[in-house]
Amino acid sequence: MKSVVIQQPGELALSERELPQPAAGEVRVKVQYASICGSDVHIWHGHNPFAKYPRVIGHEFFGLIDAVGDGVETSRVGERVAVDPVVSCGHCYPCSVGRPNVCKTLQVIGVHRDGGFSDYALAPAENAYRLPASIPDKLASLVEPFTIAANITAFLQPQSGDTALVYGAGPMGLTAIQVLKGVYGVKQVLVVDRLPERLDLALANGADNVFNNSETPLAAQLEGIQPTLIIDAACHPSILAEAAALASPAARIGLLGFSGEPCSITQQSLTSKELSLFTSRLNSKRFPQVIEWMDKGLIQPEKLVTHYFPLNEIERAMTLFEKDPRTCCKVILQMG
Ligand code: NAI
Ligand code: MN
Ligand code: ZN
Repeated sequence: MKSVVIQQPGELALSERELPQPAAGEVRVKVQYASICGSDVHIWHGHNPFAKYPRVIGHEFFGLIDAVGDGVETSRVGERVAVDPVVSCGHCYPCSVGRPNVCKTLQVIGVHRDGGFSDYALAPAENAYRLPASIPDKLASLVEPFTIAANITAFLQPQSGDTALVYGAGPMGLTAIQVLKGVYGVKQVLVVDRLPERLDLALANGADNVFNNSETPLAAQLEGIQPTLIIDAACHPSILAEAAALASPAARIGLLGFSGEPCSITQQSLTSKELSLFTSRLNSKRFPQVIEWMDKGLIQPEKLVTHYFPLNEIERAMTLFEKDPRTCCKVILQMG
């Protein structure tokens, strides 16, 4: 089978690999579509602290179960599945309180173990979620990025009366906008980015108002509006302090970033308004929820997609995705 392997940081290859056999409790998925995420690019360039090399990348993928290991119902062969990349132990403290996404021995498929940019991939059987026919093959890999929005909004508990502000209109910001509007019915969703093309995408994904902060700071454009719910999907370390300054008293702020740079903020700016801060990593068993949202038409994954490429054009696809955020949002690979 063909697999996209990062041999070591900086070295991407489309390699011939042996077909893997599912271990007990696992399924093998014949991958049909997989989407590129920023973290795939980070692993390629050696900027992901969790990655081990060599690694088959890809954690957003869809396919058909074509083999099962011991203890897995053979009737599952042929199922159309989206794969949750979060593999957890099930018994440590975070697992015991329903947060397997921060399991003490967390393994992410495509990061800590081989992933889905490949003709075939292995996953624990319980990570492979059967999809209804209403979710088309070519959009099914987008369940995973929407689980990020599902996870952070579960902490933030959006209300229709919220004034929400989303930093960043990349894939993460756009999934957040769609979930805030389509699932929670938030009446006012404001979005800030530096790229006009991304702000156009934000509008197409349901934003009510967009702001470009490349020249004028956001504070000068909000005209006194105080957001009650803020999601940082741009993830620059300077954003938290700005968000706290702009927020309404009693607002909630959700952070998605992984920067290792310090961010400077005073206790006063948080405590004087009694702001709530939430962080969110990956997803805690949110696949069923997102699948239901897609099935009911509450979210529109097609609005994120700008390109499809065959797997053998992986380097071109990853380079475009990385270098051209003005024309590129979600890029989907088609296998075999
Ligand atoms: P992206 O790079 O495509 O989008 C970020 C957007 O933010 C861009 O459009 C950029 O122009 C904009 N931006 C950057 N700095 C800004 C600023 N100061 N003000 C306003 N806009 C600004 O990335 P993507 O894929 O949407 O991911 C966003 C972030 O989310 C990344 O940092 C990534 O590491 C993080 N992430 C976190 C996850 C989690 O589970 N916590 C999962 C996936 C991504
Ligand atoms: Mn992703
Ligand atoms: Zn655990």
